[in-house]
Amino acid sequence: MKSSAPPPSAEPFLKWAGGKSQLLKQFNELKLFPAKTRYKRYFEPFLGGGAVFFHLQPSNTVLADLNEDLINCYKVMKKSPELLIKTIENSGFKNNRSVYNRMREKYNHENLSEIDRAAILIYLNKTCFNGLYRVNNNGKFNVPFGVNGYSTLFQETNIHAVSNLLKTAVLKVGSFETILQDVGKNDFAYLDPPYDPIKNLPPNFTKYTKPSFLRREQAVLADIFRDLDRRGALVMLSNSDTPNVRKLYKGFRIIPLKAKRLINCNGEKRGTVGEVVVLNY
Ligand SMILES: C[S@@+](CC[C@H](N)C(=O)[O-])C[C@H]1O[C@@H](n2cnc3c(N)ncnc32)[C@H](O)[C@@H]1O
Repeated sequence: MKSSAPPPSAEPFLKWAGGKSQLLKQFNELKLFPAKTRYKRYFEPFLGGGAVFFHLQPSNTVLADLNEDLINCYKVMKKSPELLIKTIENSGFKNNRSVYNRMREKYNHENLSEIDRAAILIYLNKTCFNGLYRVNNNGKFNVPFGVNGYSTLFQETNIHAVSNLLKTAVLKVGSFETILQDVGKNDFAYLDPPYDPIKNLPPNFTKYTKPSFLRREQAVLADIFRDLDRRGALVMLSNSDTPNVRKLYKGFRIIPLKAKRLINCNGEKRGTVGEVVVLNY
C-alpha cells in the first residue's frame, strides 16, 4: 500500500488532470521560469496537483484553488502529516471498485472531519479514472473507478517532505480574481487555468469545480494578466494553443510547446491541440 523509498524532496502527491509534470522538462529547456533572484513572492492561484510549485519549491508562496477539498488536503498535509498517514492506513482503502464506490458515496454525502476528507480525497484521486476531479451539477464528485487503480497510494516520507515545504506557504480557497489582487511588483505569478474550451468538446471537459471556467473567465483572466504586467509582476500562463488564447494575449511572448494533448477519444472526432506558454518577461 505504501512505499518507504525516500523521495529526494517533496513532490506532488495527487495526479491532477491538466497537471504540468510532463511539461517541466520543456519549461526548463526553454528557460521559461524567471530566476529566483528576480522575485520575492510566488503566487499559484490554480494550484491543482502543484507540479510547478513542487518543481520550483519557492520559499515565500501563496497557493490557492477554487476547490475547497483540494486546499483542505494541502492544509491537513501542512498541519497534521502524522495523523493523515494514520488515517489513510486505517480507513480500509482498497484498490477495487466496490470500496471505491463506497468511499465516493461517503465523500459525497457524509459530514467528514478535515482529516477524513483529505484522506478520502487522496484515495479517490489515486483510484479514480485518470486522476480526474470532476463534479456534477450538484457539486458531487462523479468520476468512475479507474480500472488500473494505484501502485502507490502514498509515500510516508513524501507526506513529511510536503508538510515541511508547506510550512511557510499561505493556502487559500478562492477564485483567481480575489487571490491575484495581492500580487505586486517583483512577485511571480504562475497561472494554469482550466484549458480554453474547444468547440465540439463536451462541456464537462473543463468542469473541475461547480462553477465552469468558460470564455468569459478566460477573458477576465487575460485582463488580470495585463493588469499584473502593469503592476510590475512577472507572469507566466499555460493554456491551449487556440485562436482565442492567441487573441487574448496578443502583444506578449507566446511560446508554443511540443506537447499535443488528445482532446477527444470519441471515434471520428479524435484530435489533438497544442499548448502554449505566455510570458510578460
Ligand atoms: C489545469 S488545473 C491546474 C493544474 C496544476 N497546474 C497541476 O500541475 O496539477 C486548473 C485548476 O484550476 C482550478 N480552478 C477552476 N476554476 C477556478 C477559479 N475560478 N479560480 C481558481 N481556481 C480555479 C481547478 O480546481 C483546477 O485545480
